[in-house]
Amino acid sequence: MAKEYTLSIIKPDGVERNLVGKIVSQFEAQGLTVAGIKKIQLSKKAAESFYGEHRERGFFGELVDFMVRSPVVVIALHGEGAIQKNRDTMGATNPAQAAEGTIRKLYSKSIGENTVHGSDSVQASAREVGFFFAASELV
Ligand code: CMP
Repeated sequence: MAKEYTLSIIKPDGVERNLVGKIVSQFEAQGLTVAGIKKIQLSKKAAESFYGEHRERGFFGELVDFMVRSPVVVIALHGEGAIQKNRDTMGATNPAQAAEGTIRKLYSKSIGENTVHGSDSVQASAREVGFFFAASELV
């Protein structure tokens, strides 16, 4: 399997509860490595742009308001099958449907406050990693 880069975001509800270390540990336990990591405060404009594909959805305003509530931690993950491993480690978008042991099953309160975001395809990973990291920041 090819080595890939993919993006994880630890959302405001995860950072506010000091879960950064626990979440990064779960990715590392799957053999993924942190190629880049930073804590940032998203602007409304950046959050709207990042989630642009959801602009027409009823929850868009709520999603953007949540993502700018407090800082997030953006992580470029690297490794074999990184895109699928990231998604498997997160669990289903709706925590009520997430498998035992996944980040969302363990920590998420609702589909809106679901603790982590992960790129869902090769194309999305390229766009989303590039949204937050320059190539020179991936080491
Ligand atoms: P994420 O993987 O970050 O991608 C888009 C996000 O929209 C998703 O996680 C959820 O947090 C959010 N989302 C999806 N459906 C709903 C919903 N019905 N209500 C509120 N937020 C939602």
